[in-house]
Amino acid sequence: MFNSEIIGHGMYVPPRVVTNHDLEKLMETSHDWIVQRSGIEERRWVAPDVTTTDLGLEAAQAAIANAGIEKSEIDCLIFAHISPDHDFPGNACFLQPKLGLTGIPAIDVRQQCSGFIYAMSIADAFIKSGQYRTILVVGAEIHSKGLDVTTRGRDVAVLFGDGAGAIVMRRADVTDRRRDSHVFSTHLFAEGQNAKELWIEAPGMALGPSRMNHEMIDELKHFPFMNGKKVFANAVKRLCEATHLALKANELTLEDIDLFLFHQANMRINQMVANELKIPEEKVFNTIQKYGNTTAATIPIGMAEAVKAGKLKKGSLVASAVFGSGFTWASAIYRW
Ligand code: COA
Repeated sequence: MFNSEIIGHGMYVPPRVVTNHDLEKLMETSHDWIVQRSGIEERRWVAPDVTTTDLGLEAAQAAIANAGIEKSEIDCLIFAHISPDHDFPGNACFLQPKLGLTGIPAIDVRQQCSGFIYAMSIADAFIKSGQYRTILVVGAEIHSKGLDVTTRGRDVAVLFGDGAGAIVMRRADVTDRRRDSHVFSTHLFAEGQNAKELWIEAPGMALGPSRMNHEMIDELKHFPFMNGKKVFANAVKRLCEATHLALKANELTLEDIDLFLFHQANMRINQMVANELKIPEEKVFNTIQKYGNTTAATIPIGMAEAVKAGKLKKGSLVASAVFGSGFTWASAIYRW
């Protein structure tokens, strides 16, 4: 069996900054409410003609450049997201020609906020098995076009933002587990009984003969619905559990980890996880203040920003844990 490592990273966010004060002009909310409940100060929104694969392209190109490889070396493309450019085919198929690639498999992973670690896990398994050698993993999301930005939808609308991140994963030579860059392990979970606690109902094949009609739009079924309190409580519980499990699987302790890169849903969730796990604040890296929740993009955006901030360095041992709609959750331990 082979090992995989992350050899390049990149991110991209659209230039338009939307502050909490900007949202105050659209709905009954306040900067203070949003900051106190979520830690979010601003997020990015795309221009109307920009697509999710446009964001993914920018992040992918940055990751390929950072890896220092020729794009022709990429033999598999995996795209994590919940915001498809079109119903079908998936975003990976639309991104592939934008990247000037053809022939290689183009796979979509739709595991919401857990999507990037699910995608990393699939890439790791492909590389471990020897099936592929150099995999581009992209997480990109557009939320701004699909939110109810009126007072009705404020509980969800203030939390989400647009953005993208990507990494290049490659077969690694690992001679010393304590030093060499590689993915130690990934752990994936789901509990579909809670699928409707955070979801978009329509359009969908479960909805009668036409997937979507005016009545469904009037009932706001095309906007996300979230049971915020239930999501919050489950997120804290599962992020803690998944982190512990990943450590245990590798016979590591919390002290062995240099950096914790958690999903960015709510600063208060991550603070509670850090408190519960007794992780010192400086070891947890958050980006939610600037970008909100970018679902599948939060982890690779976190990687890129942590490198820029000097918090993530070659040889750092990283623990990531994510939680999202589904419910799904996952964790990973990797040496950068
Ligand atoms: N601005 C101002 N007031 C708002 C608001 C907003 N954007 N959104 C909701 N409110 C109001 C509610 O209507 C409610 O008013 P009421 O008391 O008059 O009924 C009040 O604020 C409190 O709402 P509540 O839902 O109890 O707040 P909360 O403390 O649970 O925080 C969330 C709400 C959404 C921030 C919180 O539940 C959360 O973060 N959940 C998890 C979200 C998440 O992580 N989602 C993605 C998962 S991957």
